[in-house]
Amino acid sequence: MSRSKAEKVLLPEVAASFEPPNRALEVLTGLCRMRIHRGAPLDRPQAVADFIADAEAVLTLLANPVTDQVLAACPRLQIVANCAVGFDNIDLEAARRRGLWVTNTPDVLTEATADLTWALVLAVTRRVVVADAFLRAGHFKGWSLDLLLGSGLQGKTLGIVGFGRIGRAVARRALAFGVGVVFADRTEIGGADLGFRQMPLDDLVACSDIVSIHCPLNDDTRYLFDGERLSKMRRGAFLINTARGPLVHEEALVRALEDGRLAGVGLDVYEEEPLVNPGLMARDDVVLLPHIGSATVETRTMMAVRAAENIAAVLGGVAPPNPVVAKA
Ligand code: DGY
Repeated sequence: MSRSKAEKVLLPEVAASFEPPNRALEVLTGLCRMRIHRGAPLDRPQAVADFIADAEAVLTLLANPVTDQVLAACPRLQIVANCAVGFDNIDLEAARRRGLWVTNTPDVLTEATADLTWALVLAVTRRVVVADAFLRAGHFKGWSLDLLLGSGLQGKTLGIVGFGRIGRAVARRALAFGVGVVFADRTEIGGADLGFRQMPLDDLVACSDIVSIHCPLNDDTRYLFDGERLSKMRRGAFLINTARGPLVHEEALVRALEDGRLAGVGLDVYEEEPLVNPGLMARDDVVLLPHIGSATVETRTMMAVRAAENIAAVLGGVAPPNPVVAKA
């Protein structure tokens, strides 16, 4: 066997469950053999396991369930590099037990996600989608004083649930809109310097005109917004969720809209993604986006680069820059 052929065989294998942009591939050039999945997302554990097989590293998306069963079937795996800041698709405990690295892609998507959160706030409060449909349907016959009135933002209160990187970036933008900010977080956080006030979640929902959710999904936060919590929100308030769908109980959300508790809802994520509750689909006081919080060319490229850098580090024998689970 020629020398270069032998080297190729010895290089570790990286399985990418999606086609990474060139800039991410460049990070891995010369370090590994790449195997790339093209086509429908691998959304069942067995399909993920079959794809990873004997690879040393896997580049995953949120749609790929990385369960204990998957990890058990992939004996050579050293790292699961998620191309996302969230990691609720991965069984972290199983990865820890098996001595694997799990990494994510924080920071690079903070501003894009905060921008999209405000896009939803504006779309819902100013009825942007309804107005667009109204015009396209030929109903616009001229300016009138009461045409498609929305709800103003100045002087209103935005309640931010989860004051991590994205929650703070959303809060900073509120200053430009003349919106006051309160926040709830499970840890004690300073925010007073910018005039942001921390309070218990139930107090926050009771005093906010708009509530925006920015916390991770885990066993403690699933259905954080169930029927009981929604019933504590201000009558006529708006709810925005760009974090994770199962933080909100969708059936209860539909009921809160039906009985007028909420005036509008903006969602980028869903309880049974990619399925959307038909009760939400039917309403025009709801704006529904297909999980595009981080969907800018710049951000998605940087997410993939980050994920590739995490793999490159592990293949090079050093700790990756963004560990969620550190190899034992
Ligand atoms: C994430 O990164 O967790 C988002 O949901 C997708 O950008």
